[in-house]
Amino acid sequence: MGAIAGGRPVGLVFGTCEGGAEAELLSVAVAPPERRRGIGLALLRAWQVEAARRGAATMIARYNETTSGRAAFEALTGRAAWSAPVEDGLIVAGRAGAMAEAAGAWRTISDRLSRSDLYDYASVELSEADVAAVEACLAQPAAAGMMGPVALAQTIAPAFSTLIRRQGAVVGWVLAAEAESSDATEQAKGGEPAIRYLEAFLDPAYWHSGVTIGAYHYCYARQAALLGRDSVAVYYTNPTRPRMVAITRRRFAPIADRIETILAVRCAGVPLRTGTTNLDFAHYERKHP
Ligand SMILES: CC(C)(COP(=O)(O)OP(=O)(O)OC[C@H]1O[C@@H](n2cnc3c(N)ncnc32)[C@H](O)[C@@H]1OP(=O)(O)O)[C@@H](O)C(=O)NCCC(=O)NCCS
Repeated sequence: MGAIAGGRPVGLVFGTCEGGAEAELLSVAVAPPERRRGIGLALLRAWQVEAARRGAATMIARYNETTSGRAAFEALTGRAAWSAPVEDGLIVAGRAGAMAEAAGAWRTISDRLSRSDLYDYASVELSEADVAAVEACLAQPAAAGMMGPVALAQTIAPAFSTLIRRQGAVVGWVLAAEAESSDATEQAKGGEPAIRYLEAFLDPAYWHSGVTIGAYHYCYARQAALLGRDSVAVYYTNPTRPRMVAITRRRFAPIADRIETILAVRCAGVPLRTGTTNLDFAHYERKHP
């Protein structure tokens, strides 16, 4: 939605509200000379009213801890009675060569890598039996929200992705894609090619054995060989994956170039007041195919 004052556009808010109960606020901005006049607050409230009208029961906004407008944004959402910020995820960016070496040197991993009889890391090529094994993995509660190598076949970069096999049967995967140029990857990579690790899964029956880190080691080593030691490996994880967050903080944070916290603020329902009244709001929509 746009805010219009005296016929001129003075602010813009955008978000998504795609059928779910939660709408996501993506950005809110007011023209610099027009700030601190209540326009941001009115715009945010108008957006909340519109999101609620479209069926959203709750609203969320996610942002990096280093976002330049963070203080103003948090003050704004605080004024609109949104929650205080909570940690919602981590972005980790490191050099493939250094990450592979460090991961390969961890005791549990070096032991694991020396015993290739049981587990095997291999590029993503799926037989019919593999497809069935992937479906069985995805049916497990631990895979909630994951897409897996079949659904992501068109998205992933096979050279940097791996299937984890145990005695030949697929029990997990690490899936990666060429990184899009989002802020986080752009800042991290400084011109080096970047690979974004999208999803990692291992059947919980085989947890605590270093197998997943072994799979990352395999991918990072391949990435270093194919794209160079200084190519960038980026991944994202969030509190719905507590094991990955713990491994990230304990194991990857010390060897990564950058680790950035994603914060989230939330609110429930529509505001009681809608704020400044001398504004008009214009609605813009993007229709999805
Ligand atoms: C964040 C932004 C949209 C706020 O717009 P605004 O029109 O100035 O906000 P309002 O005048 O409605 O302010 C509402 C309340 O937010 C708080 N607030 C807004 N800007 C603030 C700032 N720079 N510092 C501290 N508090 C601020 C205040 O509590 C304010 O109420 P008050 O003025 O009565 O004390 C504006 O600063 C902006 O466009 N920033 C750049 C874009 C940006 O960083 N967006 C967020 C990430 S996408």
